[in-house]
Amino acid sequence: MKRVTKAILPVAGLGTRFLPATKAIPKEMLTVVDKPLIQYVIEEAAEAGITEIILVTHSSKGSIENHFDKNYELESELKAKGKNDRLKLLEDILPKGVKIISVRQPEALGLGHAILCAKPVLADDEPFAVMLPDVLMYHPQQGCLAQMMEVYTENKTSTIALEAVAEQDVEKYGIAGVKLINTGLKITQLVEKPTIDKAPSNLSVVGRYIFTPRLMPLLKRTKKGLGEEIQLTDAMDKLLEEESMFGFEFIDGKSYDCGDKLGYLKANVEYALRDKKLSSSFKDYLADITNTN
Ligand code: UTP
Repeated sequence: MKRVTKAILPVAGLGTRFLPATKAIPKEMLTVVDKPLIQYVIEEAAEAGITEIILVTHSSKGSIENHFDKNYELESELKAKGKNDRLKLLEDILPKGVKIISVRQPEALGLGHAILCAKPVLADDEPFAVMLPDVLMYHPQQGCLAQMMEVYTENKTSTIALEAVAEQDVEKYGIAGVKLINTGLKITQLVEKPTIDKAPSNLSVVGRYIFTPRLMPLLKRTKKGLGEEIQLTDAMDKLLEEESMFGFEFIDGKSYDCGDKLGYLKANVEYALRDKKLSSSFKDYLADITNTN
């Protein structure tokens, strides 16, 4: 099996859960502390050895590409003024050795359709990663995708990030049934938003995937499903019928669904509390307002 060097980041969605903020600003450009969401996700990809990011984008999302492009005017201004620390922040936006390629999804026909739009950029026999750019995966030691690469190397088959959720929350997520075998967690089934009594486990699918090349032809055959969209989950069900699939349980870290207002607020608070420069004064501030309210 070939090495995984490409990651598809679908950014062509409408972000309607976050209106009015996302009317003119892409959801993926919302900031957590001082960086747009997508910058965190590209850093996670780079740490995992990804060298090509395939953005599946839309005409209204040009600011994402601009963020990762050079801005000569700003750079020369900072250079002239000797503001080297700020210049460094700009130089570090795109990790070294990473290229960005854009393809368009003309209409938001669903996550599955967005991934299919990246097909022309991949070789027919090429495995690839998919990362949802509105989901942040914090881990104090090693990024989620980098850890998944190890599971992929061991099993040489599709690998899906899973995270335990509280039992009463299983009905909000895609849930995986798993069986522990000697090389890891083999996925036995995927169930979309099950009731507690029907849930095969409390392991939810969390927005990081490594797929074998077989996914693309299956996606191509997938018809519109829930919400009149081409659903990634439907193609994954088919893939599971043909090939084995492994789960990677993300532990000692935490995911944040920043496409949702509460998830986004939690990410801002917790990332600020982890920020060396901000944490002490931010902690004092939080203690202060929680005491007075
Ligand atoms: P979401 O369902 O979270 O994004 O898809 P959305 O549709 O933009 O959000 P809401 O529900 O209206 O608020 C996860 C990721 O897939 C992308 C989104 O941009 C997001 O990053 N996506 C979704 C596409 O690229 N194309 C689509 O047709 C749908």
